[in-house]
Amino acid sequence: MLGNRSCRQAALCIRAAVFLLLLSGMGAWSVPPWAAQANPPAPSGGGELPPPPPLGLDDIPVPPDNPMTREKVELGRLLFFEKRISADGTAACATCHMPARGFSNARQYGVGVEGKLGIRNVPTVLNAAYYSSQFWDGRAKSLEEQAKGPILNPAEMASSEERIVKVLGAIPAYGEAFRRAFGDPAISLDRAAKAIATFERTLVSGGSPFDRWKFGGEEAAISADAKRGFDLFKSKAQCVKCHLVDEFSAPLTDNKFHNIGIGMDKQKPELGRAEITKDRKDRGKFKTPSLREVTRTAPYMHDGRFNTLEEVLDFYDKGGHPNPSLDPDIFPLKLTQKEKKDLLAFLRTLEGNAPRVAEPEAPR
Ligand code: HEC
Ligand code: HEC
Repeated sequence: MLGNRSCRQAALCIRAAVFLLLLSGMGAWSVPPWAAQANPPAPSGGGELPPPPPLGLDDIPVPPDNPMTREKVELGRLLFFEKRISADGTAACATCHMPARGFSNARQYGVGVEGKLGIRNVPTVLNAAYYSSQFWDGRAKSLEEQAKGPILNPAEMASSEERIVKVLGAIPAYGEAFRRAFGDPAISLDRAAKAIATFERTLVSGGSPFDRWKFGGEEAAISADAKRGFDLFKSKAQCVKCHLVDEFSAPLTDNKFHNIGIGMDKQKPELGRAEITKDRKDRGKFKTPSLREVTRTAPYMHDGRFNTLEEVLDFYDKGGHPNPSLDPDIFPLKLTQKEKKDLLAFLRTLEGNAPRVAEPEAPR
């Protein structure tokens, strides 16, 4: 909220506008140009960090114990693509969170080392910087904590701190990159996670046609169908109860957990959030995902059960999957075919300026 609200202070607004202008001449604005090149030199100068948020999003939250620097972003980008730290050299963040697939993998589940199939759908990392907890069940409190999960997970990268220190320690360019990022060349899991999290804070996507219409006053940025769809989103369909849009920004998530019935139809219903909180009230609850870039990140839901947005809308239309813990905001909507079409037209306006990130050449 702060970002766009602070724009009411003229000085800040001009600062943001100048930054945007500078970047608009250089292509994709959300990732600073130096982060989008293959192995750029350690950037010096350039815009402020974190960059001002794109239209429709709030200031990018940065924890005080991991300040953002260009050197850390660059190290994080190298590590995001680094397969050599995984147990068999095949898995990296980017093999499940593929830049060309909306930072997801276009499959029902993740695929880790030795081709091991995961048990949950791969969420995009675009705008993950804005979540107050990470994973479908919110079990990690920060991006820093989250990044250690897949590195150590036996079904994902199956690595260890020992392996990271050994593998990266044998590559001189990494010693240099850690020194630039942290002041000395010591390599640790903690530092790797901090650098990866810092890189992820550059992976924000806003400025979509919807944002240009809602927050930028561009009447023609979206169609009449999409405008009707947004009305339905807020009224009859009640989507906005969980996928929030407020006066100054549109996170399209409430950062909370809800039971909409996904997984409650299984023989052994999924516990979801309850597994973390041990609270029976949280049974079958999962984190509300942001709907930004949703057209690029099929399949959908924590178990990747729906291949299309049409299927998702049909699911909501019939009132989710009935179960004793179903959220009271999920009920049969009785949408007409035309209304579903309009909702879909609205969801399609949420494609923003997702950053284009090139795979770096592996450091030697
Ligand atoms: C084997 C595939 C795989 C690999 C490799 C992988 N991830 Fe993920 N990622 C997933 C899956 C699946 C989830 C959701 C798991 C869950 O919620 O239980 C996830 C969740 C996340 C989330 C949380 C997003 C949200 O919406 O809550 C972030 C952030 C993330 N991964 C970043 C990373 C980073 C950084 C790396 C590399 C260190 C990485 N991932 C490696 C599959 C993968
Ligand atoms: C009660 C809160 C709530 C309401 C109301 C709600 N959603 Fe959701 N939405 C969620 C949660 C929670 C999930 C994830 C559920 C899971 O995977 O188990 C989700 C998932 C989704 C997804 C899948 C996104 C992805 O990346 O997998 C889409 C699309 C979606 N919702 C659209 C809508 C639309 C359209 C409406 C209105 C018709 C709506 N939602 C109403 C909470 C809600």
